Amino acid sequence: MAHTLSRKIAVFGAGYIGLVTGACLAELGHDVVVRDIQPERISLLQSGQIPIYEPGLGDLIIKNKERLTFTLNADEAVARAEIVYVCVDTPPTSAGDADLSRVWSVLHSLEGAAHLAAVVVKSTVPVGTGARARALLDDLGLHGVGYASNPEFTAEGRAVSDFLSPDRVVIGASDAETASLVEELHRGVDGEVVVMDIPSAEMAKMASNALLATKISFINEIASICEATGADVGNVARAVGLDHRLGPHFLQAGIGWGGSCFPKDSEALKQLASNTGYHPQLLSAVIEVNNLQKRRAISKVKDLLGTLEGATVALLGLTFKPGTDDMREATSAVLAARLLAEGAAVRCWDPLARPEAVEPWASTTRCESVLEAMTGADAAILVTDWPQLREVPWEEARGLMRRPVLYDGRNLLDPAAMRDLGFRYLSVGRP
Ligand code: UDX
Repeated sequence: MAHTLSRKIAVFGAGYIGLVTGACLAELGHDVVVRDIQPERISLLQSGQIPIYEPGLGDLIIKNKERLTFTLNADEAVARAEIVYVCVDTPPTSAGDADLSRVWSVLHSLEGAAHLAAVVVKSTVPVGTGARARALLDDLGLHGVGYASNPEFTAEGRAVSDFLSPDRVVIGASDAETASLVEELHRGVDGEVVVMDIPSAEMAKMASNALLATKISFINEIASICEATGADVGNVARAVGLDHRLGPHFLQAGIGWGGSCFPKDSEALKQLASNTGYHPQLLSAVIEVNNLQKRRAISKVKDLLGTLEGATVALLGLTFKPGTDDMREATSAVLAARLLAEGAAVRCWDPLARPEAVEPWASTTRCESVLEAMTGADAAILVTDWPQLREVPWEEARGLMRRPVLYDGRNLLDPAAMRDLGFRYLSVGRP
């Protein structure tokens, strides 16, 4: 991709966001070094291997290897850089706020780096972090280094295209010079650039994720009402989504949202509001609906089986969504824990989840195929809408089960067809 001015950029954090940011900035023509504190991660990357699954990322890293290096050494990364990108994770603290310790540690490591033009934070941070970061940079004597917030809006599984062809690039900066520097880094990106103040940029990220989570919890609540009234949530969502003011996206009813962003960010926004004394009623309900949605699946299966004690339940799909190996806040973990607590045995299948994913779930059997997972099961729960699950020989699968109970947590299958095959089939919000 052609670029007019190549900049030297140090990206801190070689996780999902840091690697995608580093590889995409290199693709845009910049000279990038990615720094991480995990030696295994850096040596993998240095040997040309990718520690995470993200479509297109490996190819991009290989294609741009002339302009993309990896290091453990923060000083070395900063010494050559004009711009530092902060892409470290901000996990929840035990109070549910975002833990910013990794962000502060990166900023501290910049002491003496007065040659930098700007520090840009991409990590998801609470509103107000920019002001604290500015004060810290000033304390470190970096008065002349600009600061910007440039939140990411990338979804896993399509992170590379979300970076290179985004709906928008949001840049929050306190001065015009830093804003145009960050804007210029994105030359070649196919998407609208919106420049604003730092707190608004920080809030834009949190508000986007909260509204997306709200849409899903909303349609899940409608699904529960559909179940009680005989309506079909698929038809309802289609009709609702055709209203251009509402849009068709994120109206897929299911077993609840998970992942590295929605659970953490909605909780962080809730705590941020609570810390100011405001009770975020709508957001609290959005989170509550999502928690209940997972438990409802278990109670419905329990109702059909009579008891879960001694039953065997197959979980089909473990990752929080298809197309990723990411197990963070996956619905499957809640289901497995609930099933085990009720005395059920759990068998599971997933094409990408890493073996360590099921380690915390005592006595869970990981199976190589859907049919193996369903063998001898009293019920199966379709948890992740992997496309492979459309291709399962369901009649054969039913024959392998002890009792033919199937809970389709993603409304992936056709209810009439599954009932014709002899399943006691339940899905979300469909009669
Ligand atoms: C999300 C946002 O989309 C992204 O913009 C942000 O930067 C990070 O969080 P991601 O977590 O990768 O991205 O996944 P996404 O595809 O948004 O799905 C999140 C969860 O919602 C998944 O568990 C998915 O199964 C669920 N979901 C999504 C639904 O249940 N229904 C829907 O209609 C859409």
